Amino acid sequence: MSDLFEALLESQINVRQRNILKSPKRGGSSDIDAVPYLGELGVTIQEKRQPIQFTPNINEHIHRWAPYVQGFSASFVQSILDTYGSEYDSPIILDPFAGCGTVLVQAKLNGYESYGTELNPLLQFIANTKLNCWDISPYFLLKIYNSLPKDKRSPSPAFLKSHSHFKPGVLRNLGIIKGGIESIEIKNEKLKKVKDLLLLAFSSILIDCSNLKRSPCLGYGKGKRIYDTAPFVLLDQKIHHIADDLRIIHNEYRDFIHTPGKVILANSMKYTHTRKFDLVITSPPYMNGLDYVMNYKIEMGWLGFANSHKDLKNIKDAMVVCDNVSKGLINNFHTSNSTYTNDWIEEIKSNIAKNIVKRGSYRREDMPYIVHKYFDDMYKTMKNVTSALNVGGHFILVVGDSLIADVYVPTDLLIAKIGLDLGLQIEKIEKARERRSGQIRSYKLRETIITLIKGR
Ligand SMILES: C[S@@+](CC[C@H](N)C(=O)[O-])C[C@H]1O[C@@H](n2cnc3c(N)ncnc32)[C@H](O)[C@@H]1O
Repeated sequence: MSDLFEALLESQINVRQRNILKSPKRGGSSDIDAVPYLGELGVTIQEKRQPIQFTPNINEHIHRWAPYVQGFSASFVQSILDTYGSEYDSPIILDPFAGCGTVLVQAKLNGYESYGTELNPLLQFIANTKLNCWDISPYFLLKIYNSLPKDKRSPSPAFLKSHSHFKPGVLRNLGIIKGGIESIEIKNEKLKKVKDLLLLAFSSILIDCSNLKRSPCLGYGKGKRIYDTAPFVLLDQKIHHIADDLRIIHNEYRDFIHTPGKVILANSMKYTHTRKFDLVITSPPYMNGLDYVMNYKIEMGWLGFANSHKDLKNIKDAMVVCDNVSKGLINNFHTSNSTYTNDWIEEIKSNIAKNIVKRGSYRREDMPYIVHKYFDDMYKTMKNVTSALNVGGHFILVVGDSLIADVYVPTDLLIAKIGLDLGLQIEKIEKARERRSGQIRSYKLRETIITLIKGR
């Protein structure tokens, strides 16, 4: 490129675009950059391509009750249960990052006891409702639904901009539905469960009724046309899906209706388990992944799980860190000294810091500490889980790696390394999917299944 042309080009592009054009990682891949780390661990990565994401669940019984962007596919969880279930008498399953409960619901469909922890109260509610309403008669659900009053109207959440999120007619109809559900008097446990099912159904239609879309982050959906009657039409469809699934449960899964399955509202980094588990199947948040709070703020507000932006921030700050947490949180972490580290983390931190200086600016200057906090958070969770794992138990994690300021972060291999530090053994590491880096689109990242085992 001539100097003149380069100067002209540089004058027309912003810093971010320039950094992308100059990145040494263009056209690269995590498979190449992972080689030295794999050598040190003494393992190779096997190919195991499969659909691991939630999308196909929209056609699966129970899983389809609530849409969730960041969950597992039911078929992936089933494949793990098929592989390992028979190794134990009747395995007890744990998902420390339970999300909307895909692992637990699938475990229950196999008759296995299952537990989880989850920090987002909306997701905990959704998961528990999907797990604990199997004894409700579909006729009873429909009877209560059909008799909901239409003359009670609930206000929209005060801290959200509901008038921009919804058209006026849609907003009015959502208020009528919510008012009707709220008017149900909880006279017994069955009515409480029906009310929970109706609230779950209501929460799961909100984004479809709004001017927003989640793809996967929540934002305005250009050109989205919504009729005022959408809340009634979509709720009716959802309730009938739930009633159909309850019918299937009563016909095909009757023996498992009372199999225990429960998600506790707790921080996986701090929670001390009182049970022992045979099989842990989980997917932690990804470092540069999604915001599990802001993405669900509409549903959290409408169901009363958050009443202010401060509530949302507090939940988010307690979670395994992602790259848009508050600066104060990272600053506190940075100045505290009781943290997990290892030589890989220190080298990665130092390379990210150097590249940020070289670039002149970066989205988050405190990125080295965000990365460090992520692995410290993961260490804390993995330590808790490992102490609760039976000898011979499997700990299976699905995670994606990252490219940060042109530095490759082998998240999956670092998690395997933390497992080794905690006394676990690596059974296998498999590549389930290829992804593109959000920053350098031509750089190939992967999504990995890490299988660890607690040896004798
Ligand atoms: C990738 S999602 C898990 C999805 C789940 N496997 C499913 O299929 O529904 C990660 C979840 O971890 C939760 N989370 C993040 N930090 C947490 C923590 N410290 N303790 C408990 N849950 C946490 C998030 O709210 C999110 O729901």
